[in-house]
Amino acid sequence: MSLVKELYEPYVLPARARISTDPVMRRLVDPAIEPEVLERFFIQYHSFGVYMTEPVEGWIRRAGQRCLLLGMDSIGKGLLKHARQEAGHHQMMIDDVRMLVRRWNIRRRAMLHTERLLAQHPTDAMRTYRHLHEATISGELPAAQIAIEFEIENLSLVLGPHLLSNVARVLGRETLEGLSFLKEHVQLDMNGANSRMMEELLQMMPENARTLAETGSEALDIYLRFLGDCLQSAEAALWSPQDEAVAC
Ligand SMILES: [Fe+2]
Repeated sequence: MSLVKELYEPYVLPARARISTDPVMRRLVDPAIEPEVLERFFIQYHSFGVYMTEPVEGWIRRAGQRCLLLGMDSIGKGLLKHARQEAGHHQMMIDDVRMLVRRWNIRRRAMLHTERLLAQHPTDAMRTYRHLHEATISGELPAAQIAIEFEIENLSLVLGPHLLSNVARVLGRETLEGLSFLKEHVQLDMNGANSRMMEELLQMMPENARTLAETGSEALDIYLRFLGDCLQSAEAALWSPQDEAVAC
């Protein structure tokens, strides 16, 4: 059995269980969800998602640099390499917002404005997500950045395919074209970098398995709250569409 399974996963299972039991996640993959709500959710997810995604390359690079300083050569180099693979991913989200807004404005009455959507204030969960990364990178165990990545990647792998098939069912296959970020992230990253680094990390410091799992669980928990914020703000926008009516 891998060390990840043996030492780490028992502590993240309660957080991971919420991916399939949380009412928000269940609603997002429910074929009975109102099409307008699901479509507006994705517009919020990609608009807010820029704030969540833009710093990722820098977070991983800085965690890598700190690991190198702490003498963790292989992990540090692994993180620096992985950071380069994350470069520019937030741009996919911006492109997706533009595509989704274009489709929305053609088909729905309320007009949305991409720049205004991208300028929305971050929610509490979004700020907490950034704060967790900053605290982790500058804290005693910067390598815990890997656990954060590992849990968020696992979320994409577990929830992503269900989400995308619900999009195809509820909104039609054409809408999938506007979801390049999600499509890219429902696949395991090219070389399974996060799971390899997790295994290596646990070999090096098995005594930190629980701390790593707690950081990973916290990140997952915050990300699920973020998805809840996206759904809540999507519904709020649908209830008060006059706030959004903007002449483009
Ligand atoms: Fe990414």
